[in-house]
Amino acid sequence: MSAFLSSSESSPKFRSSSPINYPSTPATESDLVLDADYINEVVYNARRNQYVLVTGGLGFIGSHTSVDILKEGYNVIIVDDLSNSRMDALDGILTIANRYYEDLPHRKCPKVELHNICYRNSEAMRALLESHSTTSPSGEIKQSNIVGVIHFAAYKAVEESIRKPLQYYRNNINGLVDFMTILDEFSLKTVIFSSSAAIYGSLADAGVPLSEENCIQQSEQGREQSGLENLPQSGCTDITNPYGRSKYFGEAILSDLCLSDPSWNIVVLRYFNPVGCDASGLLGEDPRGIPSNLLPVVTQVVTGQRQSLKVFGGDWSTADGTAIRDFIHVSDLARGHTAALAACRRGLVKDGYRTYNLGAGRGNTVLEVVNAMEAASGCKIPVDLVPRRAGDVERSVAAVDRARQELGWETKETLASACRDIVNRLQMTNSI
Ligand code: UD1
Repeated sequence: MSAFLSSSESSPKFRSSSPINYPSTPATESDLVLDADYINEVVYNARRNQYVLVTGGLGFIGSHTSVDILKEGYNVIIVDDLSNSRMDALDGILTIANRYYEDLPHRKCPKVELHNICYRNSEAMRALLESHSTTSPSGEIKQSNIVGVIHFAAYKAVEESIRKPLQYYRNNINGLVDFMTILDEFSLKTVIFSSSAAIYGSLADAGVPLSEENCIQQSEQGREQSGLENLPQSGCTDITNPYGRSKYFGEAILSDLCLSDPSWNIVVLRYFNPVGCDASGLLGEDPRGIPSNLLPVVTQVVTGQRQSLKVFGGDWSTADGTAIRDFIHVSDLARGHTAALAACRRGLVKDGYRTYNLGAGRGNTVLEVVNAMEAASGCKIPVDLVPRRAGDVERSVAAVDRARQELGWETKETLASACRDIVNRLQMTNSI
């Protein structure tokens, strides 16, 4: 487990009752080892009473991130209305986290609280946040034990958003505004927001990796060094669907909030295409209803629930004619959130607002994904080429230097390991 001291955690100069001695003489190599152990211990002890609130914490990315937060030693409060997730995910989260702590003899697995409510239910959310706060006799909120909020809960299907834009704006925008208002009331101002590569819109098709600077909200203006005038810029006119626009507007709202009040610390994470599942096979991508993302559909072909994969467009300007995406293993993506939370808590988020791409930094075509799943599963995946899907772009690949440099985060997994982990889960659940 990586460890660091955050601004709100005890400094190593304050001794705890820990049996580990903090060195007072010039550092030798073994002292440095002790130093790291000591810091780990202090951080672990501090986090035993700290909570991270995760909306949408039973969903595909939310459940994997909840595991990573628990591994970092924080308790987790999950808010999820189960609209696109399943209760089984809770068992998966708890089992993976407990197994992790079984190998750490002097540590206990942190707690998980599940609240089966919609994050838009203001009354229920206020009651929940009150239960984590201490109040003065006059009812004024004094302190919360929640040290960070990760906000996943949102609708995310591109094609559906074109058919039902109001539903998307109501949930993703109205919901966000109300939620931030409540967080403000409770002074919970460390927030990680799920955004998407979809905000780059058709700029993605320019053929170069997408940099965060290609789409900047007001609070990040004037802080870029690479000559903004030379960079293509997106704006909401280039975005190809309401889902992407809802994320762009969400970013703009958060940016305005940070400009209005410097005590906010907000990190926006722009996800590319998350795939795979935890290597244990205990968590996965199990959307309700008919799936629309590529890997869940491919998986249904592998399990025999579908005859073939409809490939949307074989006439893009790519080597095999199918669209290119940046597929990132969901476990890498989950670690991106804990890296962002660490940066926020250490006060490293410049001017309180920063965006990061979370992608692998390389692209694969839809047919390459099919080949990778065929190789991992040993099953033939029949494909039908059909016309392009509304709202799709030709290619979308991330530039990942900023996350590497500023968050110290990079991917470890590959498309092949993502397919291997999916097949492992299918075998564990007797689906193939
Ligand atoms: C989009 C966003 C992504 C976001 C995701 C949320 C862009 C560039 N990316 O992903 O940031 O996280 O929505 O849902 O807007 N495909 C098929 N057949 C299928 C399903 C998909 O050919 O049955 C193709 C699509 O046309 C696309 C690729 O596979 O070219 C990936 O599609 P999908 O998994 O749905 O994700 P995006 O739409 O790229």
